[in-house]
Amino acid sequence: MKKFVAILMALCLVLGACAMVSAEGEKVGISMPTKDLQRWNQDGSYMEAMFIEAGYEVDLQYAANDEQQQLNQVTNMINNGCKVVIIAAITGDALGNALDLAKEKGVAVIAYDRLLMESDAVSYYATFDNYMVGTVQGEYIKKELDLDNAEGPFNLEITAGDPGDNNAGYFYQGAIDVLQPYMDAGKLIVKSGEIEFAKVATPGWKSETAQNRANAILANYDDGSNIDAWLCSNDSTALGVINALEDNYDGEWPIITGQDCDVATMAKMIDGKQAMSVFKDTRTLAAQVVKMVGQIFKGEEVDVNDTTTYNNGKITVPSFLCEPVFANLDNWQALLIDSGYYVLNDAGYPVVAE
Ligand code: BGC
Repeated sequence: MKKFVAILMALCLVLGACAMVSAEGEKVGISMPTKDLQRWNQDGSYMEAMFIEAGYEVDLQYAANDEQQQLNQVTNMINNGCKVVIIAAITGDALGNALDLAKEKGVAVIAYDRLLMESDAVSYYATFDNYMVGTVQGEYIKKELDLDNAEGPFNLEITAGDPGDNNAGYFYQGAIDVLQPYMDAGKLIVKSGEIEFAKVATPGWKSETAQNRANAILANYDDGSNIDAWLCSNDSTALGVINALEDNYDGEWPIITGQDCDVATMAKMIDGKQAMSVFKDTRTLAAQVVKMVGQIFKGEEVDVNDTTTYNNGKITVPSFLCEPVFANLDNWQALLIDSGYYVLNDAGYPVVAE
């Protein structure tokens, strides 16, 4: 018995020591989809700064929305000694070969913001609650139009995200689940008739693509009728819709939703063109991922708060979901300026601090 206790104590000491192993000098790869959209620059640079501060070596790459480039970059990170790679994929299922290599070499893979699909090599997923993003947008429209009490009917149009991005379906569904009962009851009418995800999706989340489709939809409103709300899944698609409305619509300005609180969007919000955006504080997500990586290196249990939702076609990936909130004219100063996320320029518009 004494011997057993002694062995147990020795084991505890060894495990304790393992948990204290320093991550100093360990190498981490960060693969972001593009520099074109503001948020990914912030995600990348926040994480890079936090990792460097904690003593890691960092390889941060942006892939110009080019799947092959992202595949090459991640492969190089793994071959060059990164022990953990953090990936926000351009297309969820396009990195299979790199993920196989990660698995072969024992490299941990964290899917960042967007789930990596069709692979059992994904160790963890860190994101904002994507379904909740859609719920927040749908609830905003419901409240602003007072759908439970107002007589209506109201005209709604819908613009969703990239079908290659697993998030896009969650955003769409979260909002549609709020709005569907009102469509069924005839209180919300989609004059274009385009409701299904496949019809309203925007490949690549591109503003121009959203704008072209919005222009085509506006032909339904040539009769002088108003659009009351336009559900847009994010800010880049909302921007396309706003451009189309500015060019080709004379009716009352609709309630337009978005996501990310991009600086371009905040200017539109202040100017009364976009009613709301969902704020996903990228500092929170970045800090969470840096924490998870620390836990991986130390051999500690990794923080997750969802182990059932995100099945990628091969496995259900243990996930950490952060909570999104909405920003509108009433609260943006507190959320974005007082918190130091942005600063105001001389004209009174939010900009990223230098
Ligand atoms: C992100 C959004 C972003 C969109 C376009 C999504 O995966 O969750 O924040 O607006 O991609 O980049």
